[in-house]
Amino acid sequence: MKIDYKKYPTPRMRHHTAPNLYVRYEDFKVLPRYYPPLQQNIDWALYFSNNQPPNVLDIGCGRGGFLLEFATQFPETNIFGLEVRKQAVEWIDDIITGEGIDNAGVLWYNSSNGLPFIQNESLESAFYFFPDPWHKKKHRKRRAFNIDLVNELYRTMSSTGTLFLMTDVPEVDSYQQEVLNVHGGFNFKYSLVDEWSLPLTDHENFSLKKGIPYIRAVVTKR
Ligand SMILES: C[S@@+](CC[C@H](N)C(=O)[O-])C[C@H]1O[C@@H](n2cnc3c(N)ncnc32)[C@H](O)[C@@H]1O
Repeated sequence: MKIDYKKYPTPRMRHHTAPNLYVRYEDFKVLPRYYPPLQQNIDWALYFSNNQPPNVLDIGCGRGGFLLEFATQFPETNIFGLEVRKQAVEWIDDIITGEGIDNAGVLWYNSSNGLPFIQNESLESAFYFFPDPWHKKKHRKRRAFNIDLVNELYRTMSSTGTLFLMTDVPEVDSYQQEVLNVHGGFNFKYSLVDEWSLPLTDHENFSLKKGIPYIRAVVTKR
């Protein structure tokens, strides 16, 4: 199935949303009204026609190019995207509804708050592609990939599950490896381009167009 993206006018999407939206819920004294809601349980029938929970997670799915292509290429999977930019989520949701894609869902959510709505050992694949680098030291706490998220990935990934990582920022790659090493429960392996047959992401297309090299890695449970 080929999605006709031209049917869906793109809203103006800023690169970053309000800085407060990257802050973890527990770090607020007063939660701003414009913060993405926390979720404990999700009724998966609202997202997936087979009423099953997701077995694939796309964390920081951005404008959803990868999520949507993955869903159409792998109709037997349920892919769920998490994204903190509300306009991106609404746009993706319009496409999911408009095209009748019944195995993809997307949630306005800050992934720094964990994955309580994802069941233990239920994920076959988790994707964490081209995270915002937050280069400045004082902004590092806005990186969603921290020990809490890695603990959550460990809990939610099946024993044969794979976490796929991509970044075009070598420092982000080192940082992520450091967090994984601190956790200690994962194997990390760089991946060559021909070992990886997944749809391209929006950011990956951008990097390819600009000739920016990027790093791919696969992470499995020990
Ligand atoms: C550079 S984009 C990459 C998007 C997509 N993965 C791709 O490869 O094209 C990073 C995305 O992660 C989202 N993001 C950053 N921090 C997040 C968080 N804590 N929770 C959910 N999404 C987040 C950003 O809003 C942005 O859309």
